[in-house]
Amino acid sequence: MSDKVVLSYDGKELELPVSTGSMDEKSIDISKLRGATGLITMDPGYKNTGSCESKITFLDGEEGKLLYRGYPIEQIADKSNFEEVMYLLLKGELPTQTELEGFVADIRKNTEVAEELVQMLNAFPEGSHPMGIISALTSALSAFNPEKVNVATEEEMYDAAVTLLGQFPVIAAWSQRKIKGLPLVKSDSSLSYVENFYQMLFNDGSEGYKADPVIVDAFDKLLILHADHEQNCSASTVRLVGSSHAGIFASIAAGISALWGPLHGGANQAVLEMLEAIQNDGGDVAKFIAKAKDKEDPFRLMGFGHRVYKNFDPRARIIKVAADNVLTTLGINDPILDIAKGLEQACLEDDYFKARKLYPNVDFYSGIIYKALEIPTEMFTVMFAVGRLPGWIAQWMEMRQTNQPIGRPRQLYTGAATRDYVEMSAR
Ligand code: CMC
Repeated sequence: MSDKVVLSYDGKELELPVSTGSMDEKSIDISKLRGATGLITMDPGYKNTGSCESKITFLDGEEGKLLYRGYPIEQIADKSNFEEVMYLLLKGELPTQTELEGFVADIRKNTEVAEELVQMLNAFPEGSHPMGIISALTSALSAFNPEKVNVATEEEMYDAAVTLLGQFPVIAAWSQRKIKGLPLVKSDSSLSYVENFYQMLFNDGSEGYKADPVIVDAFDKLLILHADHEQNCSASTVRLVGSSHAGIFASIAAGISALWGPLHGGANQAVLEMLEAIQNDGGDVAKFIAKAKDKEDPFRLMGFGHRVYKNFDPRARIIKVAADNVLTTLGINDPILDIAKGLEQACLEDDYFKARKLYPNVDFYSGIIYKALEIPTEMFTVMFAVGRLPGWIAQWMEMRQTNQPIGRPRQLYTGAATRDYVEMSAR
């Protein structure tokens, strides 16, 4: 196969080199295009545009395949745990026992949150969405850790990363305590990352409080499945903001805001609200499918479709089984799960969804588990953020380590051509 593309324009020919990735994906290098031809490329939504080379996560949307640092998500979800996955994403290799213990200890050193940050949390009005709270407080970490903002060396970046990994679950858990009007629960360094996060969410202060291991396991799996997904909207935001050397806290705060939207991570909240709407409407999935297909209606079936997956999202397959297990183990019979399964089946058999290769995505079943675990609906996307944090950090680190240039797209200007200023009296 050829290793170049030849572009012919205005009577001239330009050779554009083709690169091949480690999973045999191809890309055309257009970095010399504008200099040689004056042309730019146009690709709104970046549907065909690669923004970087990356060694972190591979996904094949046609095959429904997802790898973290080369390891299939199915194996990782089955055999690993979230602490190990965080290490893998950041460092590139699975840790030895000693390496993992050192990493976890470094995170634990950073779980003390500044008192002023608690005051900021308390200043948010009732009804604040927790995604807004965690984005603001993550950005505020720049003020409390000024020496960890302009980082350049490996050690400095690692230090900033473990600071954020330590502080973030506390902020995330406390945003829920705040919206529920409950007292804040301190981090407990004798617990695993996930169990500690869970107890900060739910510890009711009762003597000998202990989280149910079944629930902690389910949480762990959900966080693993959300941990990275290559150059999605929030990861690209983290890289773009970070490319100006704005610092880790500001970059991740921007990623959190990107995740919040219902077309991205906010879909998990939107899915549950949609399933409840179907239930309240009498459970007629066909009516909602018809609405989703109607081009005059802005309604979309939340939890369906994906920019890259044109096949089953492998995370959705795992989460569907996990949802079944969690509900069975906890003895919960939630009719919402039946509605979700009915909706999925009907869509998979529907020509509109078949023709467009629209399958359930990661957000379709995750909300059902969160609901079973008594997570408030508005906290669902926060759960996604806690899971995605190591992925964002890994993307941010790689971007800095590889000296990615500042992100700055071009545009095709279609506004007014040059014209003379018109005095107010003459308008
Ligand atoms: N319901 C109905 N029609 C849909 C849906 C949907 N959920 N998703 C895509 N389509 C249609 C769309 O109308 C278009 O039809 P046509 O070709 O007739 O114009 C076609 O499918 C292609 O869609 P697109 O909007 O060009 O695809 P995209 O890659 O720009 O958007 C998406 C991807 C995820 C934003 C979109 O599928 C969507 O809005 N899904 C619902 C929201 C959702 O579940 N988001 C979570 C994504 S996965 C996790 C994450 O990123 O956080």
